[in-house]
Amino acid sequence: MSGSKKERPLFICGQCGYESRKWLGRCPDCGQWDSLSEQKRPISSSARRSVATPQPLAGSSGSGQDRLVTGIGELDRVLGGGIVPGAMVLIGGDPGIGKSTLILQLLAALADGQRKVLYVTGEESARQIRMRADRLQIDDNGIFLATENCVESIITMAADMSPALLAVDSIQTMFSEEVGSAPGSVTQVRESTARLLALAKSTELPVLLVGHVTKDGAIAGPRVLEHMVDAVLYFEGDRGQVFRILRTVKNRFGSTNEIGVFEMKEAGLAEVDNPSALFLAERPVNVPGSVVMPSVEGTRPILVEVQALVSPSSLGTGRRTAIGADPQRLALLTAVLEKKLGVTLFDHDIFLNIAGGIRIDEPALDLGVVVALLSSLFEKVVAPTTVVCGEVGLAGEIRAVGQMDMRLREADRLGFKTFLMPESSRRQLDSVPNGSMEVIAVRSVQALVEELFQG
Ligand code: TYD
Ligand code: MG
Repeated sequence: MSGSKKERPLFICGQCGYESRKWLGRCPDCGQWDSLSEQKRPISSSARRSVATPQPLAGSSGSGQDRLVTGIGELDRVLGGGIVPGAMVLIGGDPGIGKSTLILQLLAALADGQRKVLYVTGEESARQIRMRADRLQIDDNGIFLATENCVESIITMAADMSPALLAVDSIQTMFSEEVGSAPGSVTQVRESTARLLALAKSTELPVLLVGHVTKDGAIAGPRVLEHMVDAVLYFEGDRGQVFRILRTVKNRFGSTNEIGVFEMKEAGLAEVDNPSALFLAERPVNVPGSVVMPSVEGTRPILVEVQALVSPSSLGTGRRTAIGADPQRLALLTAVLEKKLGVTLFDHDIFLNIAGGIRIDEPALDLGVVVALLSSLFEKVVAPTTVVCGEVGLAGEIRAVGQMDMRLREADRLGFKTFLMPESSRRQLDSVPNGSMEVIAVRSVQALVEELFQG
């Protein structure tokens, strides 16, 4: 932009990145007070400087089949079969969850195939990275390491070296020389991403960004980041636990909701081939308040244990806590049970937990929650060979959920004997199980109680 043209001021919210032409005391987007500050230079003006030559759509390289396959199966799956040339992938997650470890293992896997890859870190020293590499037993001279915080330098570096992949750890530590604000600010994060994105798109270099996560779960500095990149992978799990779940939240080149399951070991992240068995490994049997639910994450069924603890509250109204499930959904299901079954729950504390640190969002979990709650409330054990799966509606009706065949096969494979499912799902089953699995179909929560807890 030329200096002769008078630039209008631009104000940006330091919290969420909201843009406004005039100063406002409170950000209309995120509600933060006094968070708007004037932006001296228009965002990404120089990132847009270069003019691309239009190319014919047909015939240009982009059939997308030349993906960079990492060879780490769980990772390739969440990426939709490998990394697409020119794609920008953001890996988010809490500090200490294993992002840098995963990046290093991924780079090692790629460099193994005689490629050169570039790892830029703005967070740790070269020495720290070497120590991690030693721990992971990575001894590869295809990985090039640089400690750098300036995106312009990184771009020059990448141009000189032309690596097969560029990894930047983390985007919050990067800054662009052309922006006045401090590294980590929304403006810097966005501007740095814009520069790297321009590099990725113009040179077909795949770029991997590491991003930290704020308290409220958004990838820090901002939602805007999620919109800019091609794919967002999110590391979930509890640092105290060994499982690490890598979930696709966005993918322009593959399906979302796919998950990869890893285990954090002494020497790095190991793929978990049989997640169901792992999630059920420590399941207590013949204990009230526990039931198994076959969940489907993306294209893969995973059996998880739903645990509930319902006990009289010492306060007037009970507490409700949900770990690994939606607390709103728990409140709703509790209300349905009170209304439809006449049970008293308002004066009970209710704790819900999905064992193993995995998060389940699908409505099919409802039946698992309901059964676990009732099992704990009634102090009645659900047979350890039973699985339950279905959505529960406000009228107490039990509604069909998809991919029942897949869930059934997984439950069968792991030796479960009884499958409690919605009536309407049974009618849709392709294959009637071959005798070893008993299917019980229920229509309502009342029918469910009769089936599981009476007699
Ligand atoms: P790290 O990749 O540094 O996390 P992030 O980049 O997301 O902040 O990994 C952090 C944790 O993983 C650290 O607490 C130690 C543990 N870890 C292992 O258990 N085994 C290993 O082989 C490595 C490298 C790390
Ligand atoms: Mg790190």
